[in-house]
Amino acid sequence: MATTVLDHALIKHKLTIMRDKNTSTYIFKQNLDEIAKLMAYEVTRNVPIRDKVIETPVCQMVGKEIDQQIVLVPILRAGIGLVDGFRDIIPTAKIGHIGMYRDEETLIPHEYYARFPSGLEDSLVIVVDPMLATGGSASMAIQNIKERGAKNILLVCLVGAPEGVALIEKEHPDVNITLAALDEKLNEHGYIVPGLGDAGDRLFGTD
Ligand code: PRP
Ligand code: URA
Repeated sequence: MATTVLDHALIKHKLTIMRDKNTSTYIFKQNLDEIAKLMAYEVTRNVPIRDKVIETPVCQMVGKEIDQQIVLVPILRAGIGLVDGFRDIIPTAKIGHIGMYRDEETLIPHEYYARFPSGLEDSLVIVVDPMLATGGSASMAIQNIKERGAKNILLVCLVGAPEGVALIEKEHPDVNITLAALDEKLNEHGYIVPGLGDAGDRLFGTD
């Protein structure tokens, strides 16, 4: 499967605002909402559609409607920040939740919560998280979702590191990855360089 880095001037502009350490929590979230909408538009480009007969004010016509349930799965906490933007574009999406945190020393992810709508096996499941660093959190989340029957999974992250992309490509070769940016590397603390810092802390104003 493929890894796609979106090449769009608006996304680059808004992501630069988010990366700036002087950007406030409020403006950080505002730009995340806007990028989420743009990413939702891109990743749903090929969602199945079916015919729908309607009456325009002028005549009958055969239009189209989305023909697959979409389930968004934010990886808590920071993934929550992508939900509003996606839901603005896909209002019929159902939402699953998976809670993960990385041990700050070992960088190993720990799952603390999981709750999903039924019907994952027939849905397009879009896992969202701003950061793909070592890839451990996303990989564990995807594994959990697969064990619940999901077969059609996309991973959408704002900023990825080469290490995280390589892990997902190795452990989940059936999952397409979409990024707003592919950064240079991880530092010794497992943070993406240049990155944007701790996405959850910046989103929620945690110190
Ligand atoms: C961040 C981020 C990802 C994870 C990425 O979450 O939102 O879930 O780190 O790192 P990885 O690719 O190395 O696993 P964090 O563990 O900081 O939890 P939080 O969202 O609650 O802040
Ligand atoms: N998690 C974050 O929030 N930021 C990083 O750079 C890496 C992991």
